[in-house]
Amino acid sequence: MSSGENVLSPSTEDPLWWRHAVIYQVYVRSFADGNGDGTGDIAGLRSRLPYLAALGIDAIWITPWYASPLADGGYDVSDYRAIHPDFGTIEEAELLIAEGLELGIRTIIDVVPNHLSDQHAWFKEALAAGPGSPERERFWFVDSEDIPNHWVSPFDGETWTQTTNEDGTPGQWYLHLFTPEQPDVNWNHPDVRKEYEDVLKFWFDRGVGGVRIDSAALLIKDPELSEVVGEPAAGEHPWQDRDELHEVYASWRAIADSYPGARALVGELWLPDVERFVQYMRPNELHTAFNFDFMSRQWSAQQVRESIDMTLNAHEPVGAPSTWVLSNHDVTRPVTRLGREDSTFSFLTKEFNTPTDLELGTRRSRAAALLTAALPGSLYIYQGDELGLPEVENIPRNKIDDPMHFKSGGTKPGRDGCRVPLPWTREGSSYGFGEDGASSAWLPQPHGWANLSVEAQLEDDNSMLALYTRAIKIRHESADLREGGFTWLTSEPGVVAFRRGESLTCITNFADQPVRLPDGARVLLVSDELVDGELPQDATAWLAAK
Ligand code: GLC
Repeated sequence: MSSGENVLSPSTEDPLWWRHAVIYQVYVRSFADGNGDGTGDIAGLRSRLPYLAALGIDAIWITPWYASPLADGGYDVSDYRAIHPDFGTIEEAELLIAEGLELGIRTIIDVVPNHLSDQHAWFKEALAAGPGSPERERFWFVDSEDIPNHWVSPFDGETWTQTTNEDGTPGQWYLHLFTPEQPDVNWNHPDVRKEYEDVLKFWFDRGVGGVRIDSAALLIKDPELSEVVGEPAAGEHPWQDRDELHEVYASWRAIADSYPGARALVGELWLPDVERFVQYMRPNELHTAFNFDFMSRQWSAQQVRESIDMTLNAHEPVGAPSTWVLSNHDVTRPVTRLGREDSTFSFLTKEFNTPTDLELGTRRSRAAALLTAALPGSLYIYQGDELGLPEVENIPRNKIDDPMHFKSGGTKPGRDGCRVPLPWTREGSSYGFGEDGASSAWLPQPHGWANLSVEAQLEDDNSMLALYTRAIKIRHESADLREGGFTWLTSEPGVVAFRRGESLTCITNFADQPVRLPDGARVLLVSDELVDGELPQDATAWLAAK
């Protein structure tokens, strides 16, 4: 296929698409298995594009599909210009991008610039070349008798591994913020900067509509490798949110802007300080970044309102749109999280055997879906959330694959519970994930998913899928929701209400009493049945003026 210039279809011409897009996250291993080997792949994804088009989304974000030993589900890349053979080929990736565009769906790929795989040519060369070699300067190799410092991995535990010299003596240490199979690259090295810029161009040339930047706040390290002492002041953490990052993203933005068709940069930035967070979205940097604050809050009117307020206020001065994210491949599925007494999310508090009320969680997830879809900015949907899949919490221990589980010494469940392959049909050995009789899915699906399958939900007007499809349709058709302003409305305690544009009102009731809807309102969509015309607890309604 030729350059990206020729592949944009008329339906994907909007240069500001990323400001209000609905973006569906595809965890490629678990979406659809086209060749029956038990692992999702590009062939499966291509065959399901009509499903995504009917859902009405604007773009897909595909988690890493590159050559990789899969030590961290593909976030350990051994070749950024090749597709993992289990997932397909570069030619299939190009076909997917082109077929998506024909349906009005852009493809956002996942670039992982903080680290690569220990099987990447660079790291193998560095190990072979030995201490003091230029090949080692692309990484953080350190001579030290003892561990060089005590940085704690986001996966828990140490972040350094000691190599062994050819003669069997202890060698240099290398840094890996995540697993030992994911050595961090050294962003002070010009080769590193150039390589990732070339990777961006490689994929932009193939027509991708954007890039999700993995671990985007972690790339730059303090060259002194100083210890983290207490709570470092803004910009002074030795491996997070360092000021030099802005220059990296300004150069990435220049590359994105040099392509036609509004290629977007989306940062994965887990930062507690919202003022620092939005600095990455100044006009010459990233287009957007995931807003994780919202999904980390307790399900309550006050918490939700505070998060919306804080997010909108912080984004306004930099002119960037907010994003709304209920989950992703790293966190607990909303149906499960919102069905718990503590409905906040944090990696540290994720435990086995946490009591959950799935019925409650499902009701709240429906309400949360409508609430987030009514907010200004772009919306992310993680595959399977549109089906209301719960977190799978009984994966047999010998099937768990996630390094987070292993790093915890097997004491924490890790992230596989939200990565279980999707159920497409009521019947079939893997509920249609692969063909009937194909190899079983790489993570076992629980019994009882027949009614959660796409097939079952397409036939049920009250299903989660029907709700998502309707909400996305209204969102696309309504100028109020697409580009209208945002105004809080006065409401009773326990109720969150706002207006978008001229006439669309969104009301969520968190209180234990049903709430009356304003007189003269026409209900466009509601997440749960009204009771005597009133909105019950844990429900959201979209209203239009009559
Ligand atoms: C990001 C990814 C996560 C991965 C980690 C290391 O947080 O979302 O899945 O394990 O980075 O690459």
